[in-house]
Amino acid sequence: MIEEVRHAHEAALEQVATALTLADLRAVDSEVLAKSGTLGSLKSRLGSLAIEHRKTVGQAINQAIEAVESAADERRRELSAAALQGRIAAERLDLTEITARPRRGHEHLAIQAWERLEDVFVGLGFQIAEGPELETDFYNFEALNMPRSHPARSGFDTLFTDYNEDGTVLLRTHTSPVQIRVMQTVEPPIYMIMPGRVFRRDTPDATHMPVFHQLEGLVIDRSITMAHLAGTIDAFTKAFFGGDFTSRLRPNYFPFTEPSAEFDIQRPDGTWIELGGCGMVHPNVLSAAGLDPEEWSGFAFGFGIDRMARERHGVDDIRDMYSNDVRFIKQF
Ligand code: PHE
Repeated sequence: MIEEVRHAHEAALEQVATALTLADLRAVDSEVLAKSGTLGSLKSRLGSLAIEHRKTVGQAINQAIEAVESAADERRRELSAAALQGRIAAERLDLTEITARPRRGHEHLAIQAWERLEDVFVGLGFQIAEGPELETDFYNFEALNMPRSHPARSGFDTLFTDYNEDGTVLLRTHTSPVQIRVMQTVEPPIYMIMPGRVFRRDTPDATHMPVFHQLEGLVIDRSITMAHLAGTIDAFTKAFFGGDFTSRLRPNYFPFTEPSAEFDIQRPDGTWIELGGCGMVHPNVLSAAGLDPEEWSGFAFGFGIDRMARERHGVDDIRDMYSNDVRFIKQF
């Protein structure tokens, strides 16, 4: 019978070692260890043995059962670990396409110009403010000395929304409304620039886009004169374009400044670029924003950021800047 125990023991260990699933291991329980199993059933036959053999055979059976049980436990751990690995492998996300992408992006041309401009003005002692793109008639026109009937309004090709009463909520046509918001909330003296996105009902062509960017400047202090304005424009021109560029002011008209001017800059080769508008803040604008025109005076200017980027990089057609064609964009 010792021989039978040995046989059953070896067969059981073999069955455990080759078990591929947890169900295979449960079969070892019922086929080997249970009362009717190959090892279990041997126990019930001990009674028929001569008394002097019972102890040895009984011990051999118990040892065999213990050995099979611990081998089965060990195998169970292996199989569950493998099952876990399998689940992890199956649930793994393949991210190689993302991490292996070789090209790195960079800031858009217009944003690069925007940030360079901010750097230059911060260097000149200005602070930066921003305002909403959706504006009211009051901030975009009324407070800027353009009441409802003002003819200058039509020059702005305004995009109106259908919020509230007709014509009261619009996409801002320039960054000048931020001047009003700044004057209403900041105690003078004010030295601020206000960059932002603006909107006009315009058909895109080589020099126009219906959505573009402007940078507004506002200085409010005591005894500010047109000479401060001209000096600031010139300091900015040299800091941004280089010491061999100069600037000039040409008389012009804006409802919100008086006197008003257009400012141009001259390239080293003598040719001129028209850059933007400027002037002394109109007393009506100071009053509309809650400042006393007898106490405070100041100047404002505004120009297109996209045009600066075009000028700097020699872009012929402004539409190229917004077509999202990587072959164009990655050059800068
Ligand atoms: N807001 C004017 C425009 O968009 C530019 C400007 C700003 C003119 C400030 C004068 C003073 O055309």
